[in-house]
Amino acid sequence: MVETRILKIDPERPDPELVREAAEVIRRGGTVAFPTETVYGLGADTYNPSAVMKIFEAKRRPADNPLIVHIADLDQLFEVAADVPGEALALARKFWPGPLTMLLRKSPRVPGEVTAKRDTVAVRMPAHPVALALIRESGVPIAAPSANLAGRPSPTTAEHVVRDLYGRVDVIIDSGHTLYGVESTIVDLTRDPPVLLRPGAMPVEEVRRALGKDIVIPPFARGLGMADVALAPGMKYRHYAPYKKLTVVEGDYSDLEAYARGVIEVVRRLSGDARRAVVLCSSETRRYYEGAGLRTIELGPRSNLFVVARNLFESLRLIDEMADVDEAYSEGFPEQGLGLAIMNRLRKASGFSIIRLGGGDVSSPAGQAPH
Ligand code: TXA
Ligand code: MG
Repeated sequence: MVETRILKIDPERPDPELVREAAEVIRRGGTVAFPTETVYGLGADTYNPSAVMKIFEAKRRPADNPLIVHIADLDQLFEVAADVPGEALALARKFWPGPLTMLLRKSPRVPGEVTAKRDTVAVRMPAHPVALALIRESGVPIAAPSANLAGRPSPTTAEHVVRDLYGRVDVIIDSGHTLYGVESTIVDLTRDPPVLLRPGAMPVEEVRRALGKDIVIPPFARGLGMADVALAPGMKYRHYAPYKKLTVVEGDYSDLEAYARGVIEVVRRLSGDARRAVVLCSSETRRYYEGAGLRTIELGPRSNLFVVARNLFESLRLIDEMADVDEAYSEGFPEQGLGLAIMNRLRKASGFSIIRLGGGDVSSPAGQAPH
């Protein structure tokens, strides 16, 4: 057991004294859970291997799953990356600080503990005043995965972090709810054309437009099947999963009433007792489930996927907290914009328990992510 201190820091105006206190813990080789604009991260000094190892221990994260390095300025980019191609610099200038992570060749300064002995490093500059202040005050880039126990939904509030990591980390900073609620978009720029390793809060369409060239979207980035480990080491592990069984029911979203009727039929057919099932649904379709006597968790409106993304991980955690619920079903969403990240998380959270209404295969070219 570690003694955990909780520091409440106002995200609008971070108290410099409290930031200094947390930075001191980083500098001394400790672990600090901190907010970013995506999800909470669990950070340590990138250049201190034993501090970095504490992250893996606290999260029970397999050592072969590398961490993202968080930086506060472009000097630190040149410090951690051996080679910064013009493309990467252009994306950094356009999207940082923000929820885009770039995979680049690593510099020798970054220890193998951070990158799981790979020769690449994942880097991003978070758009959160507390995260940026913490990195600056620490004076080093901060290596940080999401601040959840391995396999659990990523934390979007400090309470989630407390539930998973209290007694396992030195400091938990509480700055309220994060903005996006899904993690950063990861693009591998060491390959040509670049490859999307994980869709996230920054729509891949925007990155593509800025690059002016194609970005490959492999099936695993859509949450369909396991990844090639050489490409994406973390993707082979179960992720985001509630303890209870979750099934994603996908279909044609152009007629929402017909779609919801289809989902209701699946729930009635597959669940042992439909009264003990819960449906994660959109605002537009909720009334159909309620009308059929089914319990619901409302994710948000289809017309604003930002809200759905923001509520997603909390909703996955809520499934486990509902005492009289045994299993969950989730609606699907179109794989455009934030929809691609949402579907990646949902499909993985279900352990690939996916049903496609009206037949058809989600992995068929017809279901290809949009360009
Ligand atoms: O929004 C985010 O990205 C959050 C916040 C805290 O910044 N962080 C986050 O970290 O989601 P994590 O560790 O949960 O996810 C990072 C992913 C993992 O799947 C990991 O395998 C991949 O990035 N990754 C990191 N370094 C890599 C590398 N060198 N090569 C390939 N994949 C890498
Ligand atoms: Mg994670």
